[in-house]
Amino acid sequence: MSLRLLPGGRAADLPGLLVTGAAEVVTVAGGPRRGSGQGDVDRRSAADVGGIGAENAPAVAAWEGRILGVGGLADLERLVDAEGYPLERFGRLDAAGGAVSPGLVDPHTHLIFAGSREGELELRQQGAGYLDILAAGGGILSTVAATRAAATETLEDHGRHWLAEMLTHGVTTVEAKSGYGLDLATEVRLLDIAYRLGQEGPIEVVPTWLGAHAVPPELRSRPDATEAYVRLLLEEQLPGVAAHGRAVAADVFCETGVFDADQSRRILTAAAGYGLRPRLHADELAPSGGAELAAEIGATTADHLATPSETGIAAMATAAEDGRPVVATLLPATTWFLMKDHHAPARTFIDRGVPVAIGTDFNPGTSPTPSLPLAMTAACLNLRMTPDEALAAVTVNAALALGLADEIGSLEAGKQADLVVWSVPTTRQIPYWPAADLVRTVVKRGVIVLDRN
Ligand code: NIG
Ligand code: FE
Repeated sequence: MSLRLLPGGRAADLPGLLVTGAAEVVTVAGGPRRGSGQGDVDRRSAADVGGIGAENAPAVAAWEGRILGVGGLADLERLVDAEGYPLERFGRLDAAGGAVSPGLVDPHTHLIFAGSREGELELRQQGAGYLDILAAGGGILSTVAATRAAATETLEDHGRHWLAEMLTHGVTTVEAKSGYGLDLATEVRLLDIAYRLGQEGPIEVVPTWLGAHAVPPELRSRPDATEAYVRLLLEEQLPGVAAHGRAVAADVFCETGVFDADQSRRILTAAAGYGLRPRLHADELAPSGGAELAAEIGATTADHLATPSETGIAAMATAAEDGRPVVATLLPATTWFLMKDHHAPARTFIDRGVPVAIGTDFNPGTSPTPSLPLAMTAACLNLRMTPDEALAAVTVNAALALGLADEIGSLEAGKQADLVVWSVPTTRQIPYWPAADLVRTVVKRGVIVLDRN
């Protein structure tokens, strides 16, 4: 076992980790959640077995970055010993009365970009619409100009900065989309930066190609601008991105006035042919056939869904019923930041058996927050999800959204040892204290990567 150096110079030279002293351990074990099970998070409370410090208070054991088991401390120690793991080779992490959860997974971010767009907040306050700002050459296009002009090192520093911020909010895996390049060279550069930051760690990064985010400025004056760009995506950008090999998924901004359902279908089916999992920004601002398309092509996720049609909801419900669920990846921080009063029908998706995930949608236009716990608050207040439903939405269901449900998102034997020790005694308090710093310790692959003790 090699010596693993932690940020700040602490050495984790022990292969094992035992987390003790928790008021509760919430495992979210047992696979993705949907329907009436969306909020079943498997909470193990110390109070039920004699309190914190009791012989069988809940604990987590990990070895070389994988979970060995979750259970009562005495039982767990016996099991670990019986299986031949030397107990003296386990470092102890005292949760000191806090709650322990899986590391949070942010399934939807636009992590890599340059610049900021605070001016748009004021434009929207004065009544400008999001798509009007885009049509006038602002919005996404202003970030494209800044991103194309930015040095790779600047973009990397930016990504590293915001990943560090996400870590302080308990996030251990992040999806990162391209989409501010809109030409092959820049899109590949953005995907490469996302990939490299993930390799650098400690946060794991899952790169997604979003070439179909907007029509680039150099084509916009053409009468057939969108169609010309779709052809360029299919003939040049997608093959180039696929050959480059960093992206694992493809996304499209499927929205009236951006890419329509037919164009989105062509892009996503071609991307699937290259092995990229299809995802879409669907029905964010108006019903645009996004939910229907997601179900039709077997997309991994349909994201936003603030305004899906009844047909679209029914199609997603049927897909879930048939065992090929499209994860409804809802982004309530965006709806809030865009000052919309119409929210994604999370309760309907849950009632209809569609698995729900929650993401930040971190981006410079519509959701400049890196805080997944804050998105959980918005999910509770505006989408009427319960705190436990929101927790499943940012752990096991977010892992499903990234195709990583076997690796991350829950505390169960064999999975990566990614976990958070919170400063509050129950995870039900995570959305309850909006914008508070509640993270005490973060463990990624068995190593303490953030410790506020
Ligand atoms: O998810 N809606 C499209 N894309 C992003 C916003 C990107 C931007 O405004 O820069 C979103 O909201
Ligand atoms: Fe987005």
